Amino acid sequence: MCGIFGYANFLKERRRSEILEVLCNGLARQEYRGYDSAGLGVDGDKPGDVLFFKEVGKVAGLRKKIAGSSVDLDKTFVSQVSIAHTRWATHGPPSEVNCHPLKSDPTAEFCIVHNGIVTNSAELRLVLQKRGYKFESETDTEAVAILTKYIYDSQAVKGMSFTDLVKAVLKELEGSFAFVFKSKHFPNEVVTARRGSPLLIGVKTDKKLKVDFVDVEFAGQDDSRVETLQPTTTSSLLAPPVNPKVLRTQSRAFMSEDGLPQPIEFFIASDAAAIIEHTKRVLYLEDDDIAHISEGELHIHRLRHTEGDKSPGQIATTRTIETLELELAAIMKGKFDTFMQKEIYEQPESVVNTMRGRVNFDENKITLGGLRAYLSIMRRGRRMVFIACGTSYHSALATRAIFEELTEIPVSVELASDFLDRKTPIFRDDVCIFVSQSGETADTILALRYCMDRGALCIGVVNTVGSTLSRETHCGVHINAGPEVGVASTKAYTSQYVALLMMALQLSEDRISLVERRNQIINGLHELPRQIKKVLEGDSALKALSQTISQHKSLLLMGRGYQYATCLEGALKIKEISYMHSEGILAGELKHGPLALVDENMPVIIIMTQDSLYPKVQSAFAQITARKAKPVVLCNEDDDRIALGASTIRVPKTVDCLQGLLNIIPLQILSYHLAVNNGCDVDFPRNLAKSVTVE
Ligand code: F6R
Repeated sequence: MCGIFGYANFLKERRRSEILEVLCNGLARQEYRGYDSAGLGVDGDKPGDVLFFKEVGKVAGLRKKIAGSSVDLDKTFVSQVSIAHTRWATHGPPSEVNCHPLKSDPTAEFCIVHNGIVTNSAELRLVLQKRGYKFESETDTEAVAILTKYIYDSQAVKGMSFTDLVKAVLKELEGSFAFVFKSKHFPNEVVTARRGSPLLIGVKTDKKLKVDFVDVEFAGQDDSRVETLQPTTTSSLLAPPVNPKVLRTQSRAFMSEDGLPQPIEFFIASDAAAIIEHTKRVLYLEDDDIAHISEGELHIHRLRHTEGDKSPGQIATTRTIETLELELAAIMKGKFDTFMQKEIYEQPESVVNTMRGRVNFDENKITLGGLRAYLSIMRRGRRMVFIACGTSYHSALATRAIFEELTEIPVSVELASDFLDRKTPIFRDDVCIFVSQSGETADTILALRYCMDRGALCIGVVNTVGSTLSRETHCGVHINAGPEVGVASTKAYTSQYVALLMMALQLSEDRISLVERRNQIINGLHELPRQIKKVLEGDSALKALSQTISQHKSLLLMGRGYQYATCLEGALKIKEISYMHSEGILAGELKHGPLALVDENMPVIIIMTQDSLYPKVQSAFAQITARKAKPVVLCNEDDDRIALGASTIRVPKTVDCLQGLLNIIPLQILSYHLAVNNGCDVDFPRNLAKSVTVE
């Protein structure tokens, strides 16, 4: 959902070519967030000038454009700020004119990059147009750039600092955003802020710092209102601003140990992957934080504490500089052609990482440290509500039955958007579990805040450390799958599945009657990495199968019980990256409608691994073969009951509740080959983005 990037260097000489390289690399590492267009703005040849490069499509195109331009790439800058963006289009189609950075006017007094959606941009646009401001693009972002100029132009606010100006702008906005602002009026200064979209700042310096990347503290809460504008309505723009009263926040800056100015670089990004090659020291901004970087110093301000916001008590008054554990190698493709393929092949390792330090195979014991203090509340909860989107929703669905079996607590699994649409009743004794790879999915975060407001215990199951979801939940589990770059989620699914299983196992550790069942599952977890490796060996057979299936328009995946979620997830993988229509069908529902789709021309995969529902799936198999279908059977290695001559995908046998972990892998591989056969861009499927930070 768009990646933003900012780069500021102070007292460190950089050639323009180096700056452009930093920006393009920062964008390329976030390209999974959107790849409709890419653009950047750097200092021009004359003070105050901004040089823009914009291109529809991927960052590679932008690089080409830069290489082919006649700008002086050797010009050096001792201090400068520059901004960049990779877009997933929401307002206005992918085009150069809609590409960020968006500017306030032809001379680019202000220019900004934005991730998110400003929901009142249409009203802002109208008001500003009435005042004579001209718009070039169809984006919501341009309204923000022009609004900034409007406020700056207002006589009453002359002399305002860059931070206070941005505060005044943000107070007019509704929706979600992360912005980086650059201005010719504030050379070598950059302001960045967030509400609802992720944002972090990396800091790099060779010198020792006095405030050595410990907490950046707020000495007080800012409750300032810029009285030129009403906080939430655009109508105030019609009234000329008078007598602004700007209160300043207090925050701390970085200082060198000897108090002397020092070379320092700051990297602003939506995702840590974009800055890891420069520094591992990062500061995650909270909603309504505004960071101002100037003369090598970083100051953090708060936008507001008013009714409707989190109470001041809930806002941390410190921002910790964290050291990332991410390695650059983890976000490189290595020997694989695509990130998705690499991530499929990482699964024997990623599931181990999910279990590392948490499963004691000698004592058959599970310890999820993050949940320890909350176990008794969880056990007393009257129901568990899992809330997620897409693949993460499927992982919750896949483990629902084992939660119900082991905890005997009713479980519901909700799609975050629908959960919110229904205004689902939630109570203090509900346990709400939010599953998300990115931890930044807008619908899931809104659902989290909805449940928090109603007093429920909120637990996160998240891959991305430092993400909004992992910070805002009461407690949780990091799935530790490592960075997932491919837009189609693969290793995060299997790790979420394992993490959720571990949660169910830990919750049931006090139940003597379940010892045997628990031991069986924990033994199954032990075997899992070896069995996943075995499944991966089937790659070339799946490639051959994909060639037959590619010739068709549609593919049905059928199964029941634990395997219903596998069917839904397999179908999602196939449609999202190969663009082939595919549908996951609950085999028990076949005769209630979907059977009408089945004939000799409709390709079907039926999941018939051995569990208690095997006889029922056998009867579904009979129903479809009676309609002349020739299904491919996804079954266990040793199963000799499969009809002679049937085409099969064989996987090792494991415990019923773990079987879905193995069964999904051939479907991931199949989807991969279908996409390659169809000439699709596997890591960048059309119209999608990895992290869906808009509703
Ligand atoms: C599909 C896929 C999406 C995500 C969904 C939720 O392959 O990746 O369906 O699962 O957008 O994203 P997270 O898990 O980041 O909340």
